[in-house]
Amino acid sequence: MPIIIKTPEEIEKMRLACRLGAEVLDYVTKFVQVGVTTAELNRLCHDYMVNVQGTTPAPLNYAPTGHSPYPASICASINHQICHGIPNERPLKSGDIVNLDVTVIKDGFHGDTSRMFMVGEPSIQARRLVAVTYECMWLGIHAARPGGRLGDIGEAIQTHAEKNGYSVVREFCGHGIGKKFHEAPQVLHYGKAGTGDELKPGMIFTIEPMINAGKAAISTLADGWTVVTRDRSLSAQWEHTLLITEDGAEALTVSGGSPPPPKIE
Ligand code: MF3
Ligand code: CO
Ligand code: CO
Repeated sequence: MPIIIKTPEEIEKMRLACRLGAEVLDYVTKFVQVGVTTAELNRLCHDYMVNVQGTTPAPLNYAPTGHSPYPASICASINHQICHGIPNERPLKSGDIVNLDVTVIKDGFHGDTSRMFMVGEPSIQARRLVAVTYECMWLGIHAARPGGRLGDIGEAIQTHAEKNGYSVVREFCGHGIGKKFHEAPQVLHYGKAGTGDELKPGMIFTIEPMINAGKAAISTLADGWTVVTRDRSLSAQWEHTLLITEDGAEALTVSGGSPPPPKIE
């Protein structure tokens, strides 16, 4: 499938959906505390989306080929869970790191973003993984510009992850997004600069590196959704939805609660 170039009208709708997605994360942040369950965080986000924003949670009943319908409104992936964790009734405990991934639909357009949350007092190792993964995402964003190629993004992310002793999950990638939740292109978080599709103004896609403290290999749990590290090492992920502009890239899912872009030496 070709990569869709969004019209100015579509870009405005994407701006709104993306801002609202980010604002769900802003809203839920204060509730991510020791003792809360991810099922409760899911309920809070669902109610905020539906009743306050008038958005639709895109994950709920999302059923790509080969999958049962996803049973919740957000994904909540804890510690060695890489992505697509299903919210449940286990209380978060001090030291947990959790990714909350929110995708809203507003006026037919999707905004997709995730952040890491540190519960109580995570280990130095956990904090470092979360920080380096955030740097990986931003290095990918800064590598995206018109005239560049998708592989520029992948190489920037892979180089930084591996330099820090971590590995990049291969089975999941960023994706084009718009009227569809997942559309072309696939945005790999590894690869070679100068390869892959050329980036053009008006393209909109996510960058959402999944970085493992140990090996890259994954398994999927019996629930059909939750993806975990095969070696049970910690994993982290951050996600922004990005617009390619005339002179670079703009992260559309930045909001007041987004941590500032990192300084990387
Ligand atoms: N939000 C995820 C992404 O970044 C997709 C979640 S699909 C779900 O692409 F069904 F698990 F919600
Ligand atoms: Co995504
Ligand atoms: Co997402």
